[in-house]
Amino acid sequence: MTIDYLKTQKIIHWLMAIIIMLDLNVAQKFGGNMEPWDRLESRSDHATAGMIVTFLFVLRITLRYFYGAPKLPSTMPAWQVVSAKLGHYSLYFLMAGLIVTGIAMASFASDPIIVFGIDLAFAAHNQNTFFIIRGFHEFCTNAIIALIAIHILAALYHHFFAKDDTTKKMLLFWKSQQQ
Ligand code: HEM
Repeated sequence: MTIDYLKTQKIIHWLMAIIIMLDLNVAQKFGGNMEPWDRLESRSDHATAGMIVTFLFVLRITLRYFYGAPKLPSTMPAWQVVSAKLGHYSLYFLMAGLIVTGIAMASFASDPIIVFGIDLAFAAHNQNTFFIIRGFHEFCTNAIIALIAIHILAALYHHFFAKDDTTKKMLLFWKSQQQ
């Protein structure tokens, strides 16, 4: 257990939060009718942001494995400790789910999805498989939106009601007590 997150861990947290929000904004139009050129271009934009999130996710998991995370406040009741752990692991699980299903979809899509000049396809185009995986991708999206909302409510609760330093530790991303 550490006393604080590393500055790098805090910066990655906020970068991922911003990029995921922007990426959700790009993706919200996929459900509707789009001009084919717009869909193709937006898919590449969405997948590019998604691959940046993938890189940050791998970095984040690696840092978490080697440096850990600060201990939760001792004043937290047991049910909140269990919920916090469950919530955080579920967020990681859903991020991984979005990445895996996203890359799989990009592979089975009708036209190549190019990210930094690289075609993400590792399999032949298959429309049925594409739509099956899209269902899982959409499920992960809805579940992660719900969890992000709970995560924000919990952060507000820690700051304004419990008045511990859990939220402050992550907010002050330019400072760390951890060397
Ligand atoms: C970072 C987290 C991600 C989020 C929150 C996210 C979210 C979404 C959402 C909301 C949709 C629209 C689903 C629908 O309307 O049915 C979508 C579609 C899609 N996503 Fe993602 N996604 C993420 C990562 C990725 C990644 C990493 C890739 C590929 C590298 C990817 C590739 C795609 C593709 C190919 C589509 C289908 C576009 C279409 O229907 O035309 N996504 N994503």
